[in-house]
Amino acid sequence: MPPSIIPPSIMPPSILLFFFGLLSATGSLPPPRTTFLLPSADRPLVLFSLPDIHNTTTLLLSDDGDTLYVGARDAVLSLDVSQSDVISLKKKVEWRPSDSEIKDCENKGKDATVDCPNFVRVLQPMNSTHLYACGSYAYSPHDGFIDAESFSMVDGQQADTKAKVRCPFSPMQKSTAIIVDGELFTATTTNFRGVEPQISRHFSKDGRQDVSQDSSLLEEPRFVSSASDPSEGKLYFFFNEVGNEFSFVDKLRIARVAQVCKDDVGGQRTLQNKWTSFAKTSLLCQVPKHLPFNVLRDVFTLPPPEGSDAANTLFYGVFTSQWSSGPESSVCVFKLQDIRAVFTGTYMNFDFQNQQWSTVLGKHPYLGQCGLNSASDSELEQVKKSFMTSGKVKPVGGGPVVVSSGQQYSHVAALRTQAANGNPYTVLFLLTESGFLHKVVLLDQGVHVVEEIQVFSQPQLVKSIVLSSSKGVVYVGTSEGVTAVPVARCSGYRTCSQCVLARDPLCGWSRSAGVCTALVAQQQDMAQDLENGNVEEQCPGQTRNSLLPATEVSVHLNEVVRLQCRKPSNVAALTWTSSRSDSLPDKLFIRSADGSLSFLATHETFGTYRCEAEEGGYRETVASYEVQQIVPPQIASPRSFSPFPKAEDDHGTDEPFEEISISTEEPKTSTTKPSGEPEDSGMKDEGVPGTTDWSDASPTDLTDEIVVADKANSGLKNEIKVTPERDAWSGEEPADERLRVREKSFYSELVVVSLLLAACVCVLILAGIHVWRQRKTGLKKISLVGSEDGGKTNQSMETVPSLSSPEDTGGPEVKVE
Ligand SMILES: *[C@@H]1O[C@H](CO)[C@@H](O)[C@H](O)[C@H]1NC(C)=O
Ligand SMILES: *[C@@H]1O[C@H](CO)[C@@H](O)[C@H](O)[C@H]1NC(C)=O
Repeated sequence: MPPSIIPPSIMPPSILLFFFGLLSATGSLPPPRTTFLLPSADRPLVLFSLPDIHNTTTLLLSDDGDTLYVGARDAVLSLDVSQSDVISLKKKVEWRPSDSEIKDCENKGKDATVDCPNFVRVLQPMNSTHLYACGSYAYSPHDGFIDAESFSMVDGQQADTKAKVRCPFSPMQKSTAIIVDGELFTATTTNFRGVEPQISRHFSKDGRQDVSQDSSLLEEPRFVSSASDPSEGKLYFFFNEVGNEFSFVDKLRIARVAQVCKDDVGGQRTLQNKWTSFAKTSLLCQVPKHLPFNVLRDVFTLPPPEGSDAANTLFYGVFTSQWSSGPESSVCVFKLQDIRAVFTGTYMNFDFQNQQWSTVLGKHPYLGQCGLNSASDSELEQVKKSFMTSGKVKPVGGGPVVVSSGQQYSHVAALRTQAANGNPYTVLFLLTESGFLHKVVLLDQGVHVVEEIQVFSQPQLVKSIVLSSSKGVVYVGTSEGVTAVPVARCSGYRTCSQCVLARDPLCGWSRSAGVCTALVAQQQDMAQDLENGNVEEQCPGQTRNSLLPATEVSVHLNEVVRLQCRKPSNVAALTWTSSRSDSLPDKLFIRSADGSLSFLATHETFGTYRCEAEEGGYRETVASYEVQQIVPPQIASPRSFSPFPKAEDDHGTDEPFEEISISTEEPKTSTTKPSGEPEDSGMKDEGVPGTTDWSDASPTDLTDEIVVADKANSGLKNEIKVTPERDAWSGEEPADERLRVREKSFYSELVVVSLLLAACVCVLILAGIHVWRQRKTGLKKISLVGSEDGGKTNQSMETVPSLSSPEDTGGPEVKVE
């Protein structure tokens, strides 16, 4: 059956793109400027968790922002969040099904621990004294009121059949609920199988009847969010569903918003106890010439700026695409004004018998309107089949404000703020499926990802976020606990340049105080440039270069020197310069992915070294070293290994700047060639993470010492003595780095290693065959050992000292004193 209506804006390009497999979105999000991994001392988070509390996934913030109510597994909590640096438990109500109720749930084929607890999934303020809660309750939804003062449950254990149409049976299904003037509006599936969707009103006031709609008006919906428009007396429900206006190979999902009027009482004969105001429309979110982002995941309602009309309310929607092969998502913004306009526009007729849509002809001004309780039966008959608008809601600006082809966003929160120049900016907090919170600022010229903050480490089936604009905190609820993430940490930017380069609308450099600090409205002396990050202009007094005192590094002749340089941000590019020569040839100087520079100390390489970071056209020195020779007292034993402390311990950051493992294996003596010629090394070490080889760097004899210097710790810190052979297998440079240095590897050693490896594999295979022949139980073990060994290439490589530190993703800070 051909689709009766093909919206030209979606179908032809999507079909084309579908067949050509072109989905990649254009103009994808730039990488986050800085990254904070858990646990990060540079970006501290507050975690609330208790051993007997699980699945703290439903969050509700009190109006004053001092209390966070949490719907958990078999419990509802009230948390004190009035202090920004601590979350404490105030009260808790237990709310769990009885043993016999759990048994009943199990008898219906559900798992006692996974499905049958009471997962509290609706928590709403009922009135000034009570909260409303609804939970899955052993696949038999229960609801009740909680006295906010005493924090005790009223009615929670009663089997109220009505509760079954107020929240889902399955703890995995999403529903949405909103309370307006003491009446509860819900959108949920209403039976054990998770079908029969309904949008309905409960606890209806003034003796009026509760109303809902025929479940046939919704097609496998997944409810996402709801919002109230008090000025028009309407409620909006955001969801996605199967679009039955299309016939498609796959079930095509469509993002929707539905409306109902708050005071709708249904018709008198037709549509009794049914909405006369129910209508739905599509939300478009599409990059031109690309497949639409058709699956709505979350919606955040941003109220209009103070004094502005309610029509300026914005809805930030997170979308994914049902055709995505990888992580991909986008954010589209819809304006209440545009949604209202579509619902007051034209409608389509649905022919229930043939499941076909056609345009409504003639004028029917009552469609989508409130107050049809005394409408005629013929009008209500028309209402019954005309519940879909022919117009669609387009996003503000015509397309997504954020498109990410690397991230699967699931939740969004937004805040509006005023920058130092007085202009308003929007900051989005986007939660990824992998557990990061991305802070994204929408600039005139595009988006900028200020930072990414890891908030949980295990993938979460159910999670939620709530933004407290009064406290400046984003709360993330997961099965692990509740995490509070301050919206900004300005003091982490130590210099004016870093503060300005961050382009964080919430932070500015106070010229008078000389610190990066939270922006206070209309502050005059704040340095900030969100659009361009122009440091020269904003921080004129800041010295650019050279004034950074050089750290002295004293080394022996022919030691390998390693100079650290930490990237101030993920997007900064580092360059090393030397006083001795303009260029530092790759042959002699090895640049690691962590920014460090390694070379052999010779008469030619003593001198001053400077590491400069370039970001947004601004260069600054981040490290400076003076490498000089010490006149050696006789080297006692080149074979000794000195243990040394973790590099960062002494200044309190958590970054694994250096993690150097020390081998106790007997080192080999040097077999290096004195010549500077690169040797053919082959590519046999593909599986080994990073190679650094000093063999050709030495014009003279090579002793086996490496000096690791760390600017942050002012000077020579760690001294390792290792053989060059083992150096050849250490480090963690990325592939391109590896290729560069691999040219200089030992060919002969590799051949030997390969032969040994081949021999090992043969022996293991023979052993395996032998054991298999004997059909002993030892079979499994042997073959496991074999495969593991093969994967790691060579046992001895595992015990090699690692020169490189792990990639510096832990923090943005440079300690530039
Ligand atoms: C709030 O709602 C609860 C539950 O319906 C009710 O018992 C209580 O009296 C209400 N309180 C106020 C102040 O209306
Ligand atoms: C509850 O938490 C556990 C981990 O503690 C998780 O495996 C499970 O999926 C969660 N269930 C729900 C419904 O959130």
